[in-house]
Amino acid sequence: MQINDKSEIKEYSAFPERYHKMDYKRSGKSGILLPAISLGLWHNFGFVDSLQNAREVLRCAFDLGITHFDLANNYGPPYGSAEENFGTIFKKDFKKYRDELFIASKAGYDMWPGPYGNFGSRKYLIASLDQSLKRMGLDYVDIFYHHRPDPETPLEETMGALADMVRQGKALYVGISNYQPKETQEAAKILKSLNTSFILHQARYSMFDRWVEDGLLNTLHEHGVGCIAFSPLAQGMLTDKYIHGIPENSRANKAFSYLNTDTVNDTIEKVKALNTLAIKREQKLSQMAIAWILRQPQVASVLVGASSANQLKENVKALDNLSFTVEELTLIDKILK
Ligand SMILES: NC(=O)c1ccc[n+]([C@@H]2O[C@H](COP(=O)([O-])OP(=O)(O)OC[C@H]3O[C@@H](n4cnc5c(N)ncnc54)[C@H](OP(=O)(O)O)[C@@H]3O)[C@@H](O)[C@H]2O)c1
Repeated sequence: MQINDKSEIKEYSAFPERYHKMDYKRSGKSGILLPAISLGLWHNFGFVDSLQNAREVLRCAFDLGITHFDLANNYGPPYGSAEENFGTIFKKDFKKYRDELFIASKAGYDMWPGPYGNFGSRKYLIASLDQSLKRMGLDYVDIFYHHRPDPETPLEETMGALADMVRQGKALYVGISNYQPKETQEAAKILKSLNTSFILHQARYSMFDRWVEDGLLNTLHEHGVGCIAFSPLAQGMLTDKYIHGIPENSRANKAFSYLNTDTVNDTIEKVKALNTLAIKREQKLSQMAIAWILRQPQVASVLVGASSANQLKENVKALDNLSFTVEELTLIDKILK
């Protein structure tokens, strides 16, 4: 992929005051501080998307103090293309900032055909990380996650593969994603026995999906592991964008999307009620939804997606008002029931 535009000429130089406004939170009991808001590249960074826009969003993120970028082998579409685009942009804009960045990849979902391109075998995970490093042009990732539990592969094999990635210097830390509390506990025990730094669990968490409150956050606390909350805006539903209908260029209206118009229509009354509260708090709904997650001490970072730099700028302003009154929290619970 070529970057062929005016910004090709203008070399990127990061905003000197990028660390002045962002909050950094410790991930569990580790040495790692993560920005309160991180950027995920699941959507908007594939070959189907504009590379120029992807570059603007990444530059904007880093200028806002967002040091953590989250990828996975199969982000795109097509699979692998978000990592390849990231690699193209990284080479031009971010190589000199490598030590200021915390970059993640994962494997665990469908990636390539045949028996070795899915789930949690050692064969799959090791090969996948090698491919990801090549696509991104990196020597190592800062964290590598097993993307989802595998009901058939022994956990010792999967965790053993993660531990070996660290030993080989291809990952600095490891994490898991979408594991239930009991599976998380078992993974933590195995990783501890292997002396491997398990610092993050990546879990879906938003006002519309509160499963982590039923045990996972406590389990993570017990094991000194941080939580990074993905899809905090419920893929865009927890913003004001759908209040007057489904915009043409929204995720709910796109192919290759897990969000559809029925889900949006089913939640819209709750969204409107939440939006009224956000306006009273002099915040956008997206900002209130992010602040609501950050009230959980175990959450080290809220992992947002963005289809434009302006969305990211708006979302980071969530940090201007993170406090809630008891009455506000009670009202939110009532709306969500
Ligand atoms: N571990 C896992 O299994 C897993 C699964 C899913 C995601 N993730 C990670 O989590 C990241 C975030 O997930 P997500 O993209 O679903 O997060 P999200 O923050 O809930 O949704 C992001 C989308 O919401 C819309 N949006 C964001 N800010 C907005 C604003 N201020 N106003 C209006 N609309 C706004 C945009 O969609 P439009 O296109 O409509 O503008 C944007 O692409 C992913 O990139 C990935 O890194 C991990």
